[in-house]
Amino acid sequence: MTGTALTDFAKQLDKTAEDTEALLSQLLSDAVLPDEIARPKRVVDAMRYSSLGGGKRLRPFLVVESAAVFSVPREAALLAGAALECIHCYSLIHDDLPAMDNSDLRRGRPTLHKAYDDATAILAGDALLTIAFDIITRDEIHREPAVRLALTRALARASGVGGMVGGQMLDLAGEGRFGDRGPVDVARVQQMKTGALLRFGCIAGAILGQASEAEYKALDDFGRALGEAFQIADDLLDVESDAATLGKPAGADAELGKTTFVTQLGIEGAKQRVRDLLARGDAALSIFGAKGEVLRAAARFVAERKN
Ligand code: IPE
Ligand code: IPE
Ligand code: MG
Ligand code: MG
Ligand code: MG
Repeated sequence: MTGTALTDFAKQLDKTAEDTEALLSQLLSDAVLPDEIARPKRVVDAMRYSSLGGGKRLRPFLVVESAAVFSVPREAALLAGAALECIHCYSLIHDDLPAMDNSDLRRGRPTLHKAYDDATAILAGDALLTIAFDIITRDEIHREPAVRLALTRALARASGVGGMVGGQMLDLAGEGRFGDRGPVDVARVQQMKTGALLRFGCIAGAILGQASEAEYKALDDFGRALGEAFQIADDLLDVESDAATLGKPAGADAELGKTTFVTQLGIEGAKQRVRDLLARGDAALSIFGAKGEVLRAAARFVAERKN
């Protein structure tokens, strides 16, 4: 990307991050909704601790920009993006727990279980997961219930046993902690633990915009390529960067004995794979012409990001 294009992109990402922050702050308040009984302060505070004041907000950005391709109202896309970000934040809280990656630093601050305690972190994660489904089904997301249903189902499948959660299971199995790890299918692990939520961010726009089959497929292909590139970039940063830049520990994967494309292909091999994925993503977007420009820039950002 040229300097100007990068600055424009950064501004757009910042704007969506700001809007997402405001929306999350409102959604994760202590105000009790109809059919709820009460919102205990400790769990609300913990949810806010992990969801506000940090994060690139890349997933909401993907929802907003994939929706923009179909001129979906920004407010609806932001709401869907906030639901996705709640799932992402829950996944980070649980990922950092002592029983999983055992990490002390997240987004430049102590992880939730360090700032609070393990039980509060588990419950705050559970509550973020649950509230995501409250948010994604709201009337403001789309006037047609069938569209809301399709979006909700897609989010469930991206998040659950066949997506993120399943991928986290495979990731831990790949450390060898449940016995002989055998050969690790790194592409599969990454497609699930990280790719599924990012892909959802991309197809969300197609669902909200009631895209044609070809348009849906284009965003699906793009989302898969971006998702894989994102996790390889994360694994490269784990090796090449430092905690001060990342806001989370560096060198953690080697310490845990994780198998990644960096361990399998080496640094140069992993970088080449990211470049190949970017080309695949670009090709997928060609159907949208100039309307795909921001998403193309998002893929570049994913590959070149520093944290
Ligand atoms: C980190 O995701 C977790 C992975 C899936 C590798 P991000 O790098 O998007 O984290 P935040 O939201 O910006 O903190
Ligand atoms: C995290 O992968 C994936 C999810 C949270 C679902 P990592 O374990 O590599 O993420 P970081 O490096 O801790 O952010
Ligand atoms: Mg992990
Ligand atoms: Mg981790
Ligand atoms: Mg990582």
